[in-house]
Amino acid sequence: MGNDGYVHGYSVREHQRLTDQASSLVELLHWDTAFSAGSEVLEAGCGVGAQTVTIARNSPDARITSVDISAESLAAAKDRVGRAGLRNVTFRQADLFDLPFPDASFDHVFVCFVLEHLKDPAGALSRLRSLLRAGGTITVIEGDHGSTYFHPDDADARRAVSCLVEVQARLGGDSLIGRRLYPLLADAGYAEVSVSPRMVYVDGSKPHLIDGFTLKTFTAMVEGVRDQALAAGMIDEASWERGIAGLTRTAAADGVFCYTFFKGRGLRPASATAAWPARR
Ligand SMILES: C[S@@+](CC[C@H](N)C(=O)[O-])C[C@H]1O[C@@H](n2cnc3c(N)ncnc32)[C@H](O)[C@@H]1O
Repeated sequence: MGNDGYVHGYSVREHQRLTDQASSLVELLHWDTAFSAGSEVLEAGCGVGAQTVTIARNSPDARITSVDISAESLAAAKDRVGRAGLRNVTFRQADLFDLPFPDASFDHVFVCFVLEHLKDPAGALSRLRSLLRAGGTITVIEGDHGSTYFHPDDADARRAVSCLVEVQARLGGDSLIGRRLYPLLADAGYAEVSVSPRMVYVDGSKPHLIDGFTLKTFTAMVEGVRDQALAAGMIDEASWERGIAGLTRTAAADGVFCYTFFKGRGLRPASATAAWPARR
């Protein structure tokens, strides 16, 4: 993906949504994201810096280089990191398929919610592998919209979610990519690949997640493709409105909302060997 054709766009509303998403999920996604003192870390596709502040805070003595293709997002990320008083991050505008760093420059690579937007996620993982030193690791976090289910169940709400999946697919992305992280990492030549599913479970006892995740992250993300879905004739307006109402309904005290993220990790082997474990 280039700077255009990005399903969520670069609006102020999307900037806020990425912030709400990151802050409501910090513990679930990042309790085990930490890089050792002195290590060089590349964050590929940092966006507005919503994850950058967490990784920089969790690893105060690592040196983080955060890149994004969007100058506007990078400016917001710089501002956010500066306001958080973090001094261990440098920013660079670049395309992750053509990064201005020599091979083997980094000890760790961190990628979050980026592969789902790329036409060639396998190529991106392969390119990022060459930037790692032997023994260096990659951490990848992606969602999977097919993992969404809720109570009360609602056929129009499911259709609205499917519209987001379809709009993103037409732009060349894959919002069901979470389930593919293991084969993607293994095929890209990483060793010791492991994937950990992280389920967000929201019910009436979790007002923080109802607001931060169900409404301001997930429902807001679906609402963001309204115009594209209607223009493409994927759904009629009345069904769309009922679908959004159905998603919003899950945020009531007796509603439940479930979604699973996938966090993958792999290592650059010393030599290029098949990453798939030997079959018995
Ligand atoms: C959904 S945002 C995620 C941002 C951030 N990682 C987060 O979790 O909040 C995806 C980001 O990937 C960036 N991006 C997409 N394609 C890229 C590419 N080829 N090179 C660098 N950045 C890219 C977009 O500009 C956008 O900021």
